[in-house]
Amino acid sequence: MPPAPHPSPLPVNGERRASRIAIFTDKLDWHVEELAGAFARLGAAPVPAPLAGCKIDTTQRHGLAIPGFGGALPDAGVVRAIGDGSLEMITLRLGVLHALEERGVRLVNSARAIERCTDKSMASFLLAKAGIATPATFVTQSLAEARRIARRDCQRGPLVLKPLFGAQGWGLKLIREASDLPAPSEIGGVFYLQRFVAPRGAHFEDMRILVSHGKVVAAMLRRHGQWITNVRQGAKPLAATPSDRQCDIALRAAAALGADFAGVDLIEGADGAPMVLEVNSMAGWSGLQSVTGFSIAETLAANVLERLSILRCAQT
Ligand SMILES: Nc1ncnc2c1ncn2[C@@H]1O[C@H](COP(=O)(O)OP(=O)(O)O)[C@@H](O)[C@H]1O
Ligand SMILES: [Mg+2]
Repeated sequence: MPPAPHPSPLPVNGERRASRIAIFTDKLDWHVEELAGAFARLGAAPVPAPLAGCKIDTTQRHGLAIPGFGGALPDAGVVRAIGDGSLEMITLRLGVLHALEERGVRLVNSARAIERCTDKSMASFLLAKAGIATPATFVTQSLAEARRIARRDCQRGPLVLKPLFGAQGWGLKLIREASDLPAPSEIGGVFYLQRFVAPRGAHFEDMRILVSHGKVVAAMLRRHGQWITNVRQGAKPLAATPSDRQCDIALRAAAALGADFAGVDLIEGADGAPMVLEVNSMAGWSGLQSVTGFSIAETLAANVLERLSILRCAQT
């Protein structure tokens, strides 16, 4: 689904100047280059900016300062990565994103959506609340309670223990009995336990669907010889056309978390129906790009600019 041509440069406050788009990232990787190139080709001015370098400054006109923007603010922002840091640093960076939104800067994704997706327990809660199929999930801070859950649940099958803020398949563990549970200190004191969905065929596989602004952009199957099917864990990306049912659940999952941009992981349950494993608010797409015949970055950039111009038209 290639992007529609975008009129450029976009008018801002009556002048015709290129929209300045902050790409929030802690590293200038392939994704940032792809996005920056796509924005530039569409007539916008992309500016990569590390959230670690953003400041709250109440003496400034806007109350905050973004590297690369002088005293001004971006017209919109794409959040690629928050970056590693202490709880205080991450809180400040999310605060900067909230502050930008307070100042009317549109972000993809919004700070709220990023918070909702990154906290896997909140994501599971909101998916279930919206009636979206997702494996049964239990989250507790008590080892004794986690043991009770494992003793009860492992009779029907294993549980998957996931880091609350995990990504790319790191730190997942299969729990077959209560004694497999780690000490609370190894997992930040939170046990996120989800029922394991057994493979239906000979392979372990799940589907990644990329959603942007209420539409499915691209999809792939991820197949592997072991149960963690992230591309980063060595799974093979395969071109795939999602069914209507898979598209529908992916779109509903993104909407339930308020994510304009989302990488939705789907797995097939025993009955063949799709279930949502998680929703990524800062998903990468290099694996997906390798099996997709158009520039995903260009579609994403076009969607951001299109939404920006719709908002501007509505304001004038
Ligand atoms: N409940 C589950 N049942 C079966 N496989 C799972 C389950 N949860 C996760 N997985 C496998 O582990 C991978 C990573 O899990 P996921 O929840 O997407 O976390 P991450 O943020 O690390 O990608 C999934 O893509 C899938 O292959
Ligand atoms: Mg995942």
